Amino acid sequence: MRLLVLGGTLFLGRHVARAALDRGHEVATFTRGITGSPPDGVRALHGDRDDAAALPAALEGWAPELVVDTSCQTRAAARHAAAALAGVRGYAFVSSLNAYRNWPPGPLGPEDGEPTWTTDDDEYGPVKAYAERELAAALRGRFLTARAGLIVGPHDPVHRLGWWLERIARGGRVVVPAEGLDQPIAAVDARDLAGWLVAMAERGESGAVNATGPVGMTTLGGLLAICRRVTGGDAEWAPTPEADLLAAGVEPWVHLPLWLPAGMARTAWDVDTARARALGLPGRPLEETVADTWAWLRTGERKPPPHGLPEPGLPPELEARLLAAG
Ligand SMILES: NC(=O)c1ccc[n+]([C@@H]2O[C@H](COP(=O)([O-])OP(=O)(O)OC[C@H]3O[C@@H](n4cnc5c(N)ncnc54)[C@H](OP(=O)(O)O)[C@@H]3O)[C@@H](O)[C@H]2O)c1
Repeated sequence: MRLLVLGGTLFLGRHVARAALDRGHEVATFTRGITGSPPDGVRALHGDRDDAAALPAALEGWAPELVVDTSCQTRAAARHAAAALAGVRGYAFVSSLNAYRNWPPGPLGPEDGEPTWTTDDDEYGPVKAYAERELAAALRGRFLTARAGLIVGPHDPVHRLGWWLERIARGGRVVVPAEGLDQPIAAVDARDLAGWLVAMAERGESGAVNATGPVGMTTLGGLLAICRRVTGGDAEWAPTPEADLLAAGVEPWVHLPLWLPAGMARTAWDVDTARARALGLPGRPLEETVADTWAWLRTGERKPPPHGLPEPGLPPELEARLLAAG
């Protein structure tokens, strides 16, 4: 079938385009043409989603039957897609757990029982929630929204797992959150999510799905141990109590990526993913995800984080101070 990826040249969307080709579809991407090119074999359509005329103009002569939407970040982008693509057979949309009003901190039960944002500000979560409503109303029963948690894997520009890999590969004493090592963590490999999104669009599945790894799939300490095995470095953990990290000005999630203070971690990683499992969202071994991400990072192809997100990581002077104190 003709499958349109809204997005498709950076991370998740790139894997969606690849998966759709592998599943035998005729694939086009729609982007501004700033970030890069889609995989070979994909028709590259260009335009700005925020411009109402751009999508209809780009689709002149090429009417998609399926859509996977990885690039929606504004209310206008959602409205324009709803207007131009209401007739497709299946539309899989990439939203976020941030669409929920109570996450973070969570916990999150089954999708239907959890309220989403209804405010009209332009924060990330409310925009995703609005986009879901606009598109669901236009697509009626052919719209699935994947509320993604942490997405990892090759081509990840956000660089949270990537920063840990690079830091651990450099070796020596590495500041790690003492209590945080036991905190649960869950992630989905972008390639698993991508193939599943294509399958969901093909099947015309609908409704909301918490699209992340199962609760308890690993801990932060477990993930960092895999990073050390995969990079083969001689890194030695320097466990630092949460109180010392916070007192020194370490920003959770940003300076030590994937780390949340204990009070938040207890609930934020507690997300019901029963529907994702029932709909067959796969989860390859984390070791494979980490190894493939490390192999890709060493190609030096990583782009800066998108949407103005900060470069993650512990500033060197802060790390030196913490190591000296510890
Ligand atoms: N990373 C995570 O852990 C995480 C967690 C939860 C949810 N998410 C969601 O997952 C998705 C991840 O997507 P990705 O960045 O990996 O997808 P992607 O489709 O690979 O990359 C984003 C694409 O959007 C295009 N784009 C940006 N602005 C555009 C515009 N105004 N008009 C047309 N195209 C535009 C970019 O190309 P051009 O720049 O060339 O236009 C690029 O191809 C996002 O929706 C994000 O909100 C991510």
